[in-house]
Amino acid sequence: MDRKKYCAANWKMNKTPHDSVEYILEFQKKALDNHKVQIVICPPAVSLTAMISEIHRNTIELGGQNMHFENNGAFTGEISADMLVSSGAKWVILGHSERRHVFGESDEMINQKIKQALQSNLKPIFCVGEKIEDRESGNTGQVLAAQLTLGLKDISENDFQNIVIAYEPVWAIGTGLTATTTQVDDAHSVIRELLSKQGYESESTSILYGGSVKSDNAGELNSINGVDGFLIGGAALNVEEYYKIYQSF
Ligand code: 13P
Repeated sequence: MDRKKYCAANWKMNKTPHDSVEYILEFQKKALDNHKVQIVICPPAVSLTAMISEIHRNTIELGGQNMHFENNGAFTGEISADMLVSSGAKWVILGHSERRHVFGESDEMINQKIKQALQSNLKPIFCVGEKIEDRESGNTGQVLAAQLTLGLKDISENDFQNIVIAYEPVWAIGTGLTATTTQVDDAHSVIRELLSKQGYESESTSILYGGSVKSDNAGELNSINGVDGFLIGGAALNVEEYYKIYQSF
């Protein structure tokens, strides 16, 4: 099955609009012509408009890192799906572990956000992943099952085709600890099985890996059959490092 591949970057709370533009100008000097790989950069929302007007490669798209589940109203400090779209985003990261565990987002809230994103034609990169205590107690499968069933509740197969899944074990994020190829392979197979049990066409679903991906380990991780690319944090902040990861595809 030829699934679409993604080299996605989550910049988190890094880079001003000025730094973001410098980055994208530098990055576009590289050969970015592998049409099998979609590049998705998710900068802080305030950088989107400045970046989109500098992007002249169709292999690069932009995404938001979060959004509210309502489309407008009295929600001080929040950003809606329509606002992301009109700022140049085609994607949005939802369910990221930092949103779940630092900002207390529940599976139900994430489900509402996914539905709102889809309604606004924004494609969700839906993150799931277990904490270290879940893995150590042998509960990885249950945690992934709960996140996938609740997060995707009432989402049709048709809508599901616009969703990309990112498996991000919480213990591997920003820690320098990468999951082993066996752990990644197993988790991606479990996710695919769970998705088919939920009635989705999972063989064509792209599942990305995220958690301390670097140019040193990208080649090995990319050789795993069930891995369709990456959601990269820290290593994507540097143009050269991000480009090396892109070249591992
Ligand atoms: P790191 O690549 O810095 O571990 O972050 C991964 C991540 O959270 C991507 O969303």
